Amino acid sequence: MQIEVLYGPIQASDADGIVLSLFEGAPLEGAVKAVDEALGGAVAGLIASGDFGGKAQQIAVLYPRGAIPARRVILVGLGAAETFDADAVRQAAAVAAKKARELQVSRLASVLHGTGKLPAEQAAQATVEGSELGLYSYHGQKTAPPPPALPQSLELMASDEAEMAAAAEGAARGQVVAAAVALTRDLVNLPPNICTPAYLAQVAVEMAQQSGLRVEVLERKQMEALKMGALLAVAQGSDTPPRFIVLEHNADRAADLKTVVLVGKGVTFDTGGYDLKTREGMANMKVDMAGAAAVIGAMQAVAALDLPLHVVGLAPAADNMIGSRAYRPQEVITASNGTTIEVVSTDAEGRLLLADALVYAARFQPAAVVDIATLTGACMTALGVGVAAGLFSNDDALRDALLAASARTAERLWPLPLFPEYEKMIESDTADVVNSSREKFPGVGASATFLKRFVSYPWAHIDMAGMAVGEKEHPYIARGKASGFGVRLLIEFVRGWQ
Ligand code: BES
Ligand code: ZN
Ligand code: ZN
Repeated sequence: MQIEVLYGPIQASDADGIVLSLFEGAPLEGAVKAVDEALGGAVAGLIASGDFGGKAQQIAVLYPRGAIPARRVILVGLGAAETFDADAVRQAAAVAAKKARELQVSRLASVLHGTGKLPAEQAAQATVEGSELGLYSYHGQKTAPPPPALPQSLELMASDEAEMAAAAEGAARGQVVAAAVALTRDLVNLPPNICTPAYLAQVAVEMAQQSGLRVEVLERKQMEALKMGALLAVAQGSDTPPRFIVLEHNADRAADLKTVVLVGKGVTFDTGGYDLKTREGMANMKVDMAGAAAVIGAMQAVAALDLPLHVVGLAPAADNMIGSRAYRPQEVITASNGTTIEVVSTDAEGRLLLADALVYAARFQPAAVVDIATLTGACMTALGVGVAAGLFSNDDALRDALLAASARTAERLWPLPLFPEYEKMIESDTADVVNSSREKFPGVGASATFLKRFVSYPWAHIDMAGMAVGEKEHPYIARGKASGFGVRLLIEFVRGWQ
């Protein structure tokens, strides 16, 4: 979608549809008041009838029939003014954009929702993010051509000339962020026979070449040379070979800039291995690379925004399969830092990929490392599916920075503990550590405590197992499809980290 920021009153726009927004129970003012007057009180009438009250996600369409140049007026609710934030803008913009598409609107104009309460830059960014994310669609492998992408253009009307520059900057950032989320969603939505580790790597290479990122893809031989025995144990059960993707922004300035490393779990399909999942448990395990996809998407945006940090994205990628070469329970494997791991469950494979990636991260002498992974059902049990991702960290400042980014992006994180008791749960009789606790109720912290064995720097772990897929109807996350969770969060975190 073409996006422009223009200066002028929206009631003068001759677009196919104009979007206006209203707080719940608020008096008519500004553009809404002007349009109401031009339409002979039609908006006031709509409110008086009780058909529209400005509730969040509420929508109404009016037809001016020549009273103003636009063909349609789309009214969208912002909810209560007291609870208003940038996410109310994203949601309202998404609902309005989807309504416009349904009405086959080609040229759409919109107010910057919530200006006055939010700085113009934030209002513009959130309006663009909501519109683009709401309109995202996945065509998959359908042979029929996709429907035309509507609306074709979005004109954001700034009512104050002094806000133009800030609004344009916010809108541009919103486009970068939305494109990153779309890339991630596409990858997560792809079927596992297409989105293999090699495919993920190829997409990362192409993205890097277009973005100016440095990229390196390690293959099995190189992983063997690095003694990545944990990752390789998972990968050996599949004919589809593993990849270890390394993306780097500002690689040439690594010595002068602070380094942040992002690590994403890239299991392109998780059968569970010999600890085979049930049919139900396996049903959507193509999304087990959502962490890796989030890191690839975020890296695209980090490059486009040219953030003043040395940022490294690591995506260890492998399939978790059964077969004559697949790893088995009771095997003892050795990670790249020499730690020996007794395999208790072949289904606790994600932490094995992450272990070698976290060891690899240390070579960059990072100020912070954040890993993101669809890691445990326990986290889903603890926090609820589609409600929040779990956050574990060994560093208070890093945890706070992630929580702040979470609040700004409405990608919810909830802090969970790394209690010392969890250490006992991953002790092994014969190796340094087990990959999965044998206790009946190991708690949500055992997996994170396992990862902690492989870190030597400020570190945070995000368990997004319940967040990869849209759970219920949401204005800008389609139900049953990839959410793109983590992309906006990681971008915002890197933007705020110094
Ligand atoms: N990929 C799964 C976790 C998962 C479950 C992600 C549901 C998304 C939705 C992970 O590899 C796994 O199988 N975890 C096991 C670990 C257990 C064997 C210690 C789990 O949580 O059941
Ligand atoms: Zn698993
Ligand atoms: Zn998994």
